[in-house]
Amino acid sequence: MASYDRNFTDELRERLSVVDVVGRRVPLTKKGQNYWGCCPFHNEKTPSFSVNEEKGFYHCFGCGEHGDIISFTMKLNNMDFRAAIAELAQQAGLKLPDYKPKPAAQIAREESYTTISESAAKTYQSQLFSDAGAAALTYIRGRGFTDDMIKKYRIGYAPRGNIIAGKFANTKQDAVIATGLCRRGDYGLYDFFRDKLMFPIMNPSGAVVAFSGRSMDGSEPKYINTTDTEMFHKRKTIFGLNFARDAIHRAGRSIVVEGQIDAIQMQCNGFPETVAPLGTALTEDHIAILCKLNRNITFCFDGDNAGKKAAARACGLVLPFVRDTSDVRFAFVTGGKDPDEVLKTGGADAMRDIINNATPLVDFLWTIANTAYVTSTPGGRAQAEKFLKKEIEKITDDALRREYDAEYRNRIFHQWRRVKKNDAATPVPNVDDITAKTLRGLIDAHPELAERYGDFLVALNITLDGPMLNPGFDLAAAEKYIVSLKLKNYLQRLHDDRKMLVAQLLAGDDGAREKIAAVDAEIEKSNARMELLAAAA
Ligand code: UTP
Ligand code: MN
Repeated sequence: MASYDRNFTDELRERLSVVDVVGRRVPLTKKGQNYWGCCPFHNEKTPSFSVNEEKGFYHCFGCGEHGDIISFTMKLNNMDFRAAIAELAQQAGLKLPDYKPKPAAQIAREESYTTISESAAKTYQSQLFSDAGAAALTYIRGRGFTDDMIKKYRIGYAPRGNIIAGKFANTKQDAVIATGLCRRGDYGLYDFFRDKLMFPIMNPSGAVVAFSGRSMDGSEPKYINTTDTEMFHKRKTIFGLNFARDAIHRAGRSIVVEGQIDAIQMQCNGFPETVAPLGTALTEDHIAILCKLNRNITFCFDGDNAGKKAAARACGLVLPFVRDTSDVRFAFVTGGKDPDEVLKTGGADAMRDIINNATPLVDFLWTIANTAYVTSTPGGRAQAEKFLKKEIEKITDDALRREYDAEYRNRIFHQWRRVKKNDAATPVPNVDDITAKTLRGLIDAHPELAERYGDFLVALNITLDGPMLNPGFDLAAAEKYIVSLKLKNYLQRLHDDRKMLVAQLLAGDDGAREKIAAVDAEIEKSNARMELLAAAA
């Protein structure tokens, strides 16, 4: 322990909440002053493991284990002190300070990685402003980047060929491979990034640790990123955080967007508190890092299926981190756009509208439950209820969890049960009273229709006696009426199917995509028939 600067371990204890660190591994519930869970260090079924947020300690009344975030991380992961500190520093988004007994070889190694990455960033930037980078420079300017922005974000161009390998091949082969910038091939070192627009990825202290390269000729994949290295872990890296940190404090919230260009444009156009995950879906680590800065987060994803899926995922991940003071919201950019395009077409005002209209967590979770399950059926409602229950169990604040529970009970009663009661009064599938009377009248006037559409009428639960209305339709008009009703019914079923399939897709079943396409084709066909029918005189 002596080898570490005492200030740093204190800073970790200050920055990281013991409830979060423990809560990520052990489900905790707040009871009274403390949080409680089942002890991870001995086998038990009833919680005797307590965590005290204020004191920063945990204590197990069953086996006597106790300690702080550091001992917890060491014991649970079977790590030594150093590894635990490194793990916690990552969770806190802090740079590990140098400590004395760090092996000289490691210091040299890390310094040489940083030196290489920094030097590569400089090389790429000078390439961008050279002849080789002319097309890339035109491209990035065309995307609304001023030269100030290019300099601030250190955007560059990796030319064709092996510019980085060429620089380091004779001196630092292993180090340059370790940075992910070069790989070893049959003919020696070669560059990983070629003919790419380069975005340096910086750690929270602003040092370049990796790169993201965008292709400019439409080739796939659109972006390639440095694969994980000793200095760079995608799951724990948040793009733009080095620039956004202070703004997040000032704004009292962070905004999370999907893409790095979106994050840069947001930061430069009135939303400096914006960040993005990088080349990966949002992870629990990302959220933990953001929550340690501020527990108010507005997720702003694209309005497409992928964006909705990402939002649903973020919702599930953020719940363990919310407190009664947290303000977590979900905004969607619709119309096939992303924040970058909104800023370009509608400016900061259009973006502010979207952010201001973001859906609060409590409503978004309710929407997920209602889209993912068919709440017009008892089975669907049961599934949705179980889903909601499971999700809100993740909330560690006891009072807050009770509020969510009460809120959803209320909505379940008013929005689901009431509908169900009305449903029960009418036969299923149901047609309204006037339609039923009209059908009876039409069949009374044109008995041959009963023969032709018997199955359909049985399915509608229409009996042929009872009061009737006769709109005075001739046979052709009467038939048109029935056929359009049949089509409408069929369309309704298709839309119901579609809703269920979208829910499956949202839940991760990619196989549903094909079925949705088939249903969509059928919907289109039926709509066309409907129009044809309406047009027929
Ligand atoms: P998008 O496909 O939405 O791209 O990916 P974008 O940000 O709008 O990119 P531009 O505007 O066309 O340049 C969102 C994010 O997902 C990651 C990148 O971090 C990207 O910013 N991504 C995307 C990859 O890592 N690889 C890919 O092939 C595509
Ligand atoms: Mn984009």
